[in-house]
Amino acid sequence: MDAFHTIPTTPYEDQKPGTSGLRKRVTDFKQPHYLENFVQSIFDTVRDFRGGKILLGGDGRYFNDEAVQIILRMSSANGVSEVILGKNAILSTPAASHLIRKYHLNGGLVLSASHNPAGQNGDFGVKLNLETGGPAPTSVTDAIFARSQTLSHYRIADGNIDTSRIGTQNLGDMRVTVVDPVEDFAEFMEELFDFSAIKALIESGFSIAFDAMSAVTGPYATEIFGNRLGVSHDQLYNTRPLPDFGGAHPDPNPVHANALFDRMFGPNPPDFGAASDGDGDRYIALGPHFYVSPSDCLAVIAANAHLAPGYKDGIKGIARSMPTGRAADNVAAHLNIPIYETPTGWKYFGNLMDAGRITICGEESASTSSDHIREKDGLWGVLMWLNIIAAKGESVEAIVRAHWRQFGRHYYTRHDYEEVDKASAESIIATLHGQLETLTGRSLQGETIEVADSFTYTDPVDGTVTKNQGLRVFFESGSRLVMRLSGTGTKGATLRIYLERYVGPEGDHDIDLAEATAGLAMIADTLTDLKQTLNRDAPSVIS
Ligand code: G6P
Ligand code: ZN
Repeated sequence: MDAFHTIPTTPYEDQKPGTSGLRKRVTDFKQPHYLENFVQSIFDTVRDFRGGKILLGGDGRYFNDEAVQIILRMSSANGVSEVILGKNAILSTPAASHLIRKYHLNGGLVLSASHNPAGQNGDFGVKLNLETGGPAPTSVTDAIFARSQTLSHYRIADGNIDTSRIGTQNLGDMRVTVVDPVEDFAEFMEELFDFSAIKALIESGFSIAFDAMSAVTGPYATEIFGNRLGVSHDQLYNTRPLPDFGGAHPDPNPVHANALFDRMFGPNPPDFGAASDGDGDRYIALGPHFYVSPSDCLAVIAANAHLAPGYKDGIKGIARSMPTGRAADNVAAHLNIPIYETPTGWKYFGNLMDAGRITICGEESASTSSDHIREKDGLWGVLMWLNIIAAKGESVEAIVRAHWRQFGRHYYTRHDYEEVDKASAESIIATLHGQLETLTGRSLQGETIEVADSFTYTDPVDGTVTKNQGLRVFFESGSRLVMRLSGTGTKGATLRIYLERYVGPEGDHDIDLAEATAGLAMIADTLTDLKQTLNRDAPSVIS
């Protein structure tokens, strides 16, 4: 009998990875050979996986186990020498990045659709990370897509692996080593943060609420916050990962993390609240009756990172995605370090980190991280906040308000129109695109447009040029309006509108956020007639 089978197949036309891997409905992934085609395209493109060592695991969502067994059989048939597998086939995205780096692997596959809902009718995804631990760049994902369009066969072996058994097993000639990623990750966090100071803070009565949203961070949170930092287990919510995330949408934002928001904005809130997403790379932070926007999180963390032992020598530079609020820019100017503006997607930060140009980066989509790995890291963000609070002895709100008094406040909000008609969403972008050159000097809602453009990124390390990464309208007041289409949705299109208004250190930092940005929302509508075009009265989500 052959060690493996060669199965004939035909291409699927829609296997082009988006902002973060190939993300589709479970029903798409379950089409005959769909997953196999994409995985074979990866093996055919990333040649050093053959004979190499790779990491495998996912966020535990529906179809995770089945997909892991298929990928293991294909890895064996494609000549991978060893797979490091998360116990029970579960790995958070940050832990995956850490393990790739720690064990010097050739890369890995992380099975997740991040914060998208799961279950039979939910979403699934395959993300590829390379040997740096970071997401594969577009040049690689484009090559994988090109390969998927000509694929005629894939290779698969027989066999099965017991993913619950720590230690080494064989599948054909390939070794499979099952590891418990939680311990490793917790130890790594102890190297970066002052656990004894945080523990003392908790012992002093500082209360928290952490919501793992029935997703991957539960076991990590239980070990780190519960066992190592002494947080009482009843302050840790939804820590058991469920294949359908309890039927919820594991996206930490005011809409989907409403239980946490109710707790933090209700009577007797805890001192600190946080939640993370499906695969553990996003987080949000709150104080009692106080939500910190992710763009402010990036700025506050950049300004205070030196308070954590892993960053005591200061930070080299900061990067943020273009639509992310510009609060961190003021911090970079103050610290006299560079700030980089990249397209949306974590993959653009990798080169800057590998080249030693930045230490901290973040995005408006609920993430901050550092060069400790090459992914965003939700629990890292939460620990950084706890470390800063412990070091300063101040509340979340006091820390953020002091930050605004020093740097000014960037009122920031994002309006999402989800699952809208794709052609209509594209026509809105086209409408604004068509006006870009004529907008300078136009006044609307008391704001005058300074300049407008379509964002192009030139990677300062390798010179790669990435075009059409969102439309920007800058106002003379310092306000900004950005529009782009999401690259992570799986149904129709999602139009994102990012609104930002700056008020200096001496200005009013207590304006209601919706009120502060209402004029910019109206400008977006006036310029593109978006509500009429989309036939929607209001955004689906405001975060
Ligand atoms: C994923 C990526 C992020 C990105 C986010 C939103 O989580 O890892 O880097 O910011 O999606 O992307 P989108 O294209 O939907 O705005
Ligand atoms: Zn995620």
